[in-house]
Amino acid sequence: MKLRNIVIGMAFICQCSHTQAQKTPTGLKDHFKNYFTVGVAVSPQALKTDEAGLIVKEFNSMTPENAMKMGPIHPSENQYNWAGGDSIAAFAKRNGLKLRGHCLCWHNQTPRWLFIDSVTGKQVTKEVLLQRLKDHITTVVSRYKGTVYAWDVVNEAISDKKDEYMRPSLWYQICGEEFIEKAFRWAHEADPNALLFYNDYNEIDLVKREKIIRMIKDLKAKGVPISGVGLQGHWAINEPSKGQLDSTLKDFSSLGLNMQITELDISVYPKEHNARERQATDVDTSFSTEKEQKQIDVYKTCFELFKKYKKNISSVTFWNISDRHSWLDNFPVRGRKDYPLLFDAQLKPKKAYWEITKSESNK
Ligand code: XIL
Repeated sequence: MKLRNIVIGMAFICQCSHTQAQKTPTGLKDHFKNYFTVGVAVSPQALKTDEAGLIVKEFNSMTPENAMKMGPIHPSENQYNWAGGDSIAAFAKRNGLKLRGHCLCWHNQTPRWLFIDSVTGKQVTKEVLLQRLKDHITTVVSRYKGTVYAWDVVNEAISDKKDEYMRPSLWYQICGEEFIEKAFRWAHEADPNALLFYNDYNEIDLVKREKIIRMIKDLKAKGVPISGVGLQGHWAINEPSKGQLDSTLKDFSSLGLNMQITELDISVYPKEHNARERQATDVDTSFSTEKEQKQIDVYKTCFELFKKYKKNISSVTFWNISDRHSWLDNFPVRGRKDYPLLFDAQLKPKKAYWEITKSESNK
């Protein structure tokens, strides 16, 4: 009898501590639950590794890093490749994560066939290109209707050059500005409930920011169904300054639109926007204490300000999972290891993680 009581008592204690343990595993998503969802860009392959556990523990939103882009998902006119996107969508559903779609129209990772007449081999007309864009958007958005809650509809259409408004991509050369407005309207027709974003980088640059704001105001004035602006957030140890980021977030907030940080990472190298060859000066690829500290400082500034603008920022997504692999390992310098994320290659939280989550005001 006594023994039975002890056994029951022990079982009770175990059960309690087990329930406790189940309740307490906090991740980024829990730390920032009063502010915004916290997302991560993933590949279908990563979901089959130990990174899957980290994703479920830490994040409550995902973005396919490449799987839903035009090239990978629609490699030729009559062929869609759904496998990657579907497996990411299934993982998100199974584990209760939100899913952002990325991206419906971009100048990179876009298949050649879109712009070429298969019979004549010549560049297609505006009418043909817009029809192809419509078919693409309608098919992809319809497939993920109800699963993808927000789409990056148009990515990086604004020029980086000071005296140039739009990027002279093939989209722009063939269609003029119209492709942007059309893309939003077609996405909205295919899924009226999806949030629709314009996504770009380097908004901390005042000239580029003003151009983006001008375009968004134009779209709004025309009644285009745009829900918000995605700030990619590919930053580095030397930017953004607190003042730069504060005024960027303030300016976009004043548009009264939803804002999301869509591709956050903080490179441990000073910011460069263009790809280049690796040089002798790129020899030091260590994650030194100095780089670590500078990265911590930028991460702290970012999250302090994201929290300040929580009314307008609904989501913050990291671009890749851990320092085991980042697209910055090959950009802007091929083969130069970077360490831009909050988890190291062993998937352990870095100091930056503890710094941005320790603040009392997160609770
Ligand atoms: C990157 C991916 O991470 C890489 O794997 C791929 O080779 C190139 O594209 N801005 C974007 C993202 O909007 O789609 C890019 O993703 C990074 C820059």
